[in-house]
Amino acid sequence: MTSKVVQYRRYGGPEVLELVDREDPTPGPGQVRLAVRAAAVNPLDWKLRGGAMASGDAPGAPQVPGYDVAGTVDALGEGVTAFAVGDEVVGKATGGGYAEEAVADVRALVRKPAEVGWETAAALPVVATTAYRALALLGLGEGDHTGTTIVIDGASGAVGVVAVQLAVARGATVIGSAGEAHQDEVRALGATPVVYGEGLADRVRAVAPDGVDLGFDTSGYGGLRDLVALTGSPEKAITIADYAGAQELGVTFTSGGDPDDESRALAEALGLLAEGRLRAPTVVTYPLAEAGRAQDDNRTRRVAGKLVLLP
Ligand SMILES: NC(=O)c1ccc[n+]([C@@H]2O[C@H](COP(=O)([O-])OP(=O)(O)OC[C@H]3O[C@@H](n4cnc5c(N)ncnc54)[C@H](OP(=O)(O)O)[C@@H]3O)[C@@H](O)[C@H]2O)c1
Repeated sequence: MTSKVVQYRRYGGPEVLELVDREDPTPGPGQVRLAVRAAAVNPLDWKLRGGAMASGDAPGAPQVPGYDVAGTVDALGEGVTAFAVGDEVVGKATGGGYAEEAVADVRALVRKPAEVGWETAAALPVVATTAYRALALLGLGEGDHTGTTIVIDGASGAVGVVAVQLAVARGATVIGSAGEAHQDEVRALGATPVVYGEGLADRVRAVAPDGVDLGFDTSGYGGLRDLVALTGSPEKAITIADYAGAQELGVTFTSGGDPDDESRALAEALGLLAEGRLRAPTVVTYPLAEAGRAQDDNRTRRVAGKLVLLP
């Protein structure tokens, strides 16, 4: 059988993405294949497509972007007992998620609660696992953190929206930076909003006269230096998006975690969502064929929220 997939054969703008037919992928040992119902766009997808993290002007083989997928298991690899054909699952694909059929490691998948729709489920894996991991590394993991004040730079972004809610639920006082247009959204999540960009530290001090304990840079737009100044130590800050800044300032850059920890975090976030205790980032959908437009809308932030492709 063949199915549609979005791929690129050279690095460049959204125009390098092409919708093609390919043979359905075969799941390897410990993997399943999914009939994809929804696949989310992450900033990493367009960064990789643009070649920012590669040398040369073309990858060695056609690349299918995307990690976040939700779908129905339709084939099992050797040794798979955790899932059966027909199971509704969500998690991270291996070898690309912008496809009608995608493969994923069983360890990277969890069951989709019936109460959570396909699009919302697909929006969650990368952002939820990242928010859980970064907060845990900062010492703001599970438990009561009343008395701790954290600044989340990029609180209106997909990772930021989840991180703010987790930190608030754990009792922390949260100050969240966002653009002018998203101040009310950040307030609605339980944080005190401030505008990001130059002068961030002064604006934070004005709303946190007793000081700031922790800083989480979710956006990578240069706020890391202010977070270190506010907390007084590079060890009290973390970034998921400013690798160079982390190197320069001695701050932890986190990317990827233990697959079992990631799955536990995703399952918990889905459970909170199903119970109405967590609000997912706003989802905006695009047909799979318009993956390039979706990536560019995310890159430019022309469209805020989590952009999700529907095969
Ligand atoms: N290391 C990891 O494991 C990992 C995992 C996931 C994501 N990431 C990275 O983390 C970043 C955020 O991902 P995401 O999915 O949350 O992205 P997103 O949903 O596109 O959000 C981007 C955020 O950046 C904010 N922003 C825009 N311009 C800014 C500026 N000048 N100063 C400060 N903030 C600014 C946006 O605010 P407004 O919309 O209010 O303007 C928004 O809050 C990306 O670079 C992504 O590659 C890393």
